[in-house]
Amino acid sequence: MPLSFTLQIPASTANLGAGFDCLGLALNLYNLLRVEPAPGLRVSIEGEGGDTLARSVNNRVVRAMQLGCAAMGKPLPPVSLQMTNRIPLARGLGSSAAAAVGGLLAANVYYDEPLSRDELLALATQIEGHPDNVAPALLGGFCVATMAEGKPVVLRLDFPPALRLVVFVPAAPLRTRQARGVLPAKVPRADAVFNLGRAALWVAALGERRFDLLPFATQDRLHQPYRFSLIPGSEQIIAAAIRAGAHGAFISGAGSSIAALADQSCAPIAAAMQDAAQTNGQHGHVLELQSDPTGARLQDEPGNRPL
Ligand code: HSE
Repeated sequence: MPLSFTLQIPASTANLGAGFDCLGLALNLYNLLRVEPAPGLRVSIEGEGGDTLARSVNNRVVRAMQLGCAAMGKPLPPVSLQMTNRIPLARGLGSSAAAAVGGLLAANVYYDEPLSRDELLALATQIEGHPDNVAPALLGGFCVATMAEGKPVVLRLDFPPALRLVVFVPAAPLRTRQARGVLPAKVPRADAVFNLGRAALWVAALGERRFDLLPFATQDRLHQPYRFSLIPGSEQIIAAAIRAGAHGAFISGAGSSIAALADQSCAPIAAAMQDAAQTNGQHGHVLELQSDPTGARLQDEPGNRPL
């Protein structure tokens, strides 16, 4: 067992428009989790959530670590967990998936990695309820993630480094539970067909590097129309990004962030998104991000070993 180690876990954006609950992309924005031996459980948090997140067994990372330990038949070890959080909370950028993956990996690395990637993915999905953020957080890249016979089935694909993400992060958070609460239990068949074609187009367009098709692939009728009213200005920010040259734009995960795809200069798209936000009384900031190809990794290893 390594005495001390540091995990680096990426943010992620899910859905990417048409791929509700089944497409996700890892992003180059990271939470760090330093694990060191201690007389008992200690939790410290810097950065996002530093003032608000629990430092007890109610912390999401600790709960995930407990679940991982239970899956191995081991006790929660006496460790100090030092969290440096860079992923904004409740903004649709995969902070809770990163906490789940971080806690599970902390337990697994501590006990010399008895859990396989598939087992870690299944446990992380059990925590999150759907696999579309935890898959890229663990594996990196662009993930097609679905559930079959109660287990996550995931295919990881490379994401072209030339395609970057311009992300408007609103000042106001949106809880995933609230954003899922507005979704209808049943949808018209025409809407299901609309999304099926576009989600399939996403994956095919990526394989063929047909970025010109992404404005269609990122359209959605299954979740965004119901969520727009929860995120002031969101429709206008999406439209402004596309007018400024984005290859599609969408609500990131359950929101509240809005993400746009760019293969040239991000600056005009970022400015257009900020303008549209301001015009609609929405405050926030813009991040220019790239995909993360690796997923969660052990930082102290030579070359940052993926896990
Ligand atoms: N696919 C999920 C949703 C992502 O849109 O609700 C949030 O966890």
